[in-house]
Amino acid sequence: MSDASTPVGPPHDLEVGPATVDERGAVIDLFASGQVEPTRHIAYLSLGTEPIAAELTALEPGGWDDVVVARRDGLVIGALAAEHDREPPRVWWHGPAVVDRDDVDFLDVAGALLEAGRARLPAHVTEEELAGDDRHVELTALASRYGFDTAPASAVLSRACTPPPVAPEVAAIRPFTESDRPVVAAIHDATFPNNHQPGHRVDEGTDRTVLVAERDGHVAGYAAVERHEDGSGYLDLVGVDPASRGAGVGAALVVAALVHLGALGCEVANLTVRETNAVARRLYERLGFTEERLVRPHRRGFHLP
Ligand SMILES: CC(C)(COP(=O)(O)OP(=O)(O)OC[C@H]1O[C@@H](n2cnc3c(N)ncnc32)[C@H](O)[C@@H]1OP(=O)(O)O)[C@@H](O)C(=O)NCCC(=O)NCCS
Repeated sequence: MSDASTPVGPPHDLEVGPATVDERGAVIDLFASGQVEPTRHIAYLSLGTEPIAAELTALEPGGWDDVVVARRDGLVIGALAAEHDREPPRVWWHGPAVVDRDDVDFLDVAGALLEAGRARLPAHVTEEELAGDDRHVELTALASRYGFDTAPASAVLSRACTPPPVAPEVAAIRPFTESDRPVVAAIHDATFPNNHQPGHRVDEGTDRTVLVAERDGHVAGYAAVERHEDGSGYLDLVGVDPASRGAGVGAALVVAALVHLGALGCEVANLTVRETNAVARRLYERLGFTEERLVRPHRRGFHLP
């Protein structure tokens, strides 16, 4: 994707290009050092060098081919990874991460990385998302400089998978089967329009499981969970058909998700929920989730309702 209005070019002492195999260790260390600082933390990457290495290797579609670095005097001082898709035609930027040094200007280096990353994207990618801890004010400044709109924050909530809370006995929770696809897709697309995963592909992904709630003979809701590279569990989506809300189906799905993740060996389950989604937040809080951080997304080329 090119952008004629891109405001600045790379400073002349900066060299930007794809990460070489020899630079991978430095890239992993750079991301890991930022992840533990609230003012540098970015979304989509875990904490710790081993999970981050695995996540960069597993980037879709290109793995390490989709990582660009900024070098000064031959040393890596910044990195940006891209995960992108056709449906939606969107890139999720992982980063930029920039070394925390007085002689390195975040906006200069991050801007050069973003320009280089954009130049490498396939033409079909027209939507971009950057996200980081709400306290990462430099990321917000970068997003504003490069034409992103800042979206409402989401809370990252977490709790231990065991012992799970008591589930209301209002629905039978079972694994998703092929015959559930149309109804789950319909609930998903109505509940989460323009989501990162379209409804007919709701079960797609590594270490991902979809559970459905059956009530009075029909599918009333679903939950999608994942086991992440760092061993933590992630509750990606919970959606209940509007006609079945307020009866405990959502709570039953969340409890089943915790039980499933616990059985996979996950100690902790995380999820993100729009800060303003009071119904869902109350549900999660009642089930013992507590807030870890606020994540601020910045979007360009699309909006979420
Ligand atoms: C959030 C969502 C999943 C909750 O599903 P749900 O099935 O309505 O959830 P529950 O019924 O378990 O709980 C919702 C409310 O119903 C109440 N409730 C639960 N069982 C009840 C019962 N037997 N009788 C009366 N009320 C009941 C709960 O107390 C809760 O009310 P409160 O939050 O005011 O205390 C659903 O509203 C939804 O799909 N929303 C859109 C998607 C979304 O926001 N997903 C979460 C973000 S990923």
